[in-house]
Amino acid sequence: MAMSPAKITTEQEDQMFRLLRQLDLAPDASQRVTAEAIGVSLGRLNALLKQATEAGLVNIEDRNGPDKRARHTYAITARGAGEKNRLTTQFLARKLAEYDALHAELTGSASGLTSLSNRTKLMEHNLSPIPELYVSYDSAQKLKVEAGELVSHDLTPRQICDLELLMNGGFNPLKGFLTEADYDSVVDDMRLTTGELWPMPITLDVSEEFAASLEAGQDIALRDQEGVILATMTVTDNWVPNKAKEAEKVFGADDDAHPAVNYLHNQAGKVYLGGPVTGIQQPVHYDFRARRDTPNEMRAYFRKMGWRKVVAFQTRNPLHRAHQELTFRAAREAQANLLIHPVVGLTKPGDVDHFTRVRCYEAVLDKYPASTTAMSLLNLAMRMAGPREAVWHGLIRKNHGCTHFIVGRDHAGPGSNSAGEDFYGAYDAQDLFRAHQEEMGIEMVDFKHMVWVDERAQYEAIDEIEDKDKVTILNISGTELRRRLAEGLEIPEWFSFPEVVKELRRTKPPRSKQGFTVFFTGFSGSGKSTIANALMVKLMEMGGRPVTLLDGDIVRKNLSSELGFSKEHRDLNIRRIGYVASEITKNGGIAICAPIAPYATTRRAVREDIEAFGAFIEVHVATSIEECEKRDRKGLYKLAREGKIKEFTGISDPYDVPVNPELSVETENVDVDNCAHQVILKLESMGLIAAE
Ligand code: PPS
Repeated sequence: MAMSPAKITTEQEDQMFRLLRQLDLAPDASQRVTAEAIGVSLGRLNALLKQATEAGLVNIEDRNGPDKRARHTYAITARGAGEKNRLTTQFLARKLAEYDALHAELTGSASGLTSLSNRTKLMEHNLSPIPELYVSYDSAQKLKVEAGELVSHDLTPRQICDLELLMNGGFNPLKGFLTEADYDSVVDDMRLTTGELWPMPITLDVSEEFAASLEAGQDIALRDQEGVILATMTVTDNWVPNKAKEAEKVFGADDDAHPAVNYLHNQAGKVYLGGPVTGIQQPVHYDFRARRDTPNEMRAYFRKMGWRKVVAFQTRNPLHRAHQELTFRAAREAQANLLIHPVVGLTKPGDVDHFTRVRCYEAVLDKYPASTTAMSLLNLAMRMAGPREAVWHGLIRKNHGCTHFIVGRDHAGPGSNSAGEDFYGAYDAQDLFRAHQEEMGIEMVDFKHMVWVDERAQYEAIDEIEDKDKVTILNISGTELRRRLAEGLEIPEWFSFPEVVKELRRTKPPRSKQGFTVFFTGFSGSGKSTIANALMVKLMEMGGRPVTLLDGDIVRKNLSSELGFSKEHRDLNIRRIGYVASEITKNGGIAICAPIAPYATTRRAVREDIEAFGAFIEVHVATSIEECEKRDRKGLYKLAREGKIKEFTGISDPYDVPVNPELSVETENVDVDNCAHQVILKLESMGLIAAE
């Protein structure tokens, strides 16, 4: 017979709650001890025990005690455990209401504490260790020697991040890079072939040549970029994926404006390898070592601290006041401790670098109570996949021992697609998470957009503001913040903490003090080099920053003398130029590049490399091919027409006309000085050169 809460009094329910809690804590205690612990007479205890047994909440068994006298042991049944949780919530809610009333009587205001049952449930907490893929230290030493003989794959930065989380259990239940069947199932249904939920294809992409050199079942060594062997993998699967389908299904559109789709088509290898991984050692990190924790280290920490509920906050941005308010609220609503869990692997191109971000986090950590908040760095390579990414993030946090996860507006959003619209709806990620949270075993704490209400001097969720017309709502978007930093403008106190702003300004001085790259592109003979030279001289005349010219011809003589003009060689040539320019930009100089750079995807890759450190100004020298051929300064067009030079850009080789360059200059009937001046005006309008 199930208990009917309607028929029993609050006092009886409290006694039942105390009984169940006591039997859970001390099932072997004598009746006298149990009765004392819950504050009832022996007679009342017997009545309660009878009621609990009849309701199927408790099982009673006989046993002989150490003194050989017959005793009972009590075991809570599954139903009993459920009832205990229900009564616990009820008990706490009532106590909270009593406390609130008392608080109001004493202070005249509510305590501000929220009831447990208000928004979040009590998640089941299991902090026992999760499986890792590492072998023991001794085996690893032996395996490392053996693996030295194996064929090697040098991991890309993204693959290193993936491997680390595979090996340390962050991607539990994965046991290696996805096999073809698991990949198909994940792409189509967000599930592994076992039926387990897994939204993100974790794949080992390699070149066609490497894949072709392998046999089924062959073991390979996986090395980091310095050649250290991190793991071995048994290659069970080797296939050419349908990348367009992967883009559509996983990222929502086959559109290169999505960073992960761009990566998929333009950076990832053509073939995927799948198979189980054996972990030898963790990737080495020299930065912020003390702040990096594996899922099991995190679990052990929560165990040690006695944290039963932990809400994780995922971020790839510096923490400002709105985030702090949101995290405080989340911890309060879930009545949980807080784990600030920033991503330091790969984030969206153009994000603030993780070194600066971690310094920012450290600067504000003391604004959180130390006993309730922890921070740990996660070496995840994000994909910016919005809804699927949110579910993936939740599973990763569950693996780290968290019970709750904050999902805000546009979680892991990649920005706009090539039509200028958002890839995902602002709350799509919350919807998908909500639909799966029960199964995931981690509960979402969802948030709407937080904005500053000036009259009340506090942050509020936009959907909770009832007097929107009467108050001043303030907000600074990411783009606006970047603009203010770039132009050295004020960043108000209500938006961020002075310590954070100071850190950001250290890394990002005003644009007029940052390095940048001017990247000319156009046909041979279009006038790139001449304009680039004029620009260099003008910039040197202004002074303030060192200027380097990386002209096509000069580079081919000094950096790329062994390269020809195949697509592969041209790409390599441009990537080299991009690398040097990004170093110059990073160090505060001005790089002027003037290669043909015929391929849009390569130009985009270079842009991404450089924009991590400063501005990238693409200038299309838009001289027509007819005009270039007419000028034929070097006599190359004639030779190309005669077929004496093969793969000549514009004649027998393609040129992707830039779609959205920062500037396009016409050279026909315009003198060089004027063309260079147009670039100077552009630089001025972008704030890159300014009066002292
Ligand atoms: S690329 O595609 O960007 O790597 O080319 P780049 O390094 O800028 O080319 C530098 C000069 O090489 C000469 N040249 C050719 N150009 C195009 N196609 C073919 N096949 C070719 N062979 C030689 C050409 O004069 C380029 O010089 P610029 O300064 O552009 O006139």
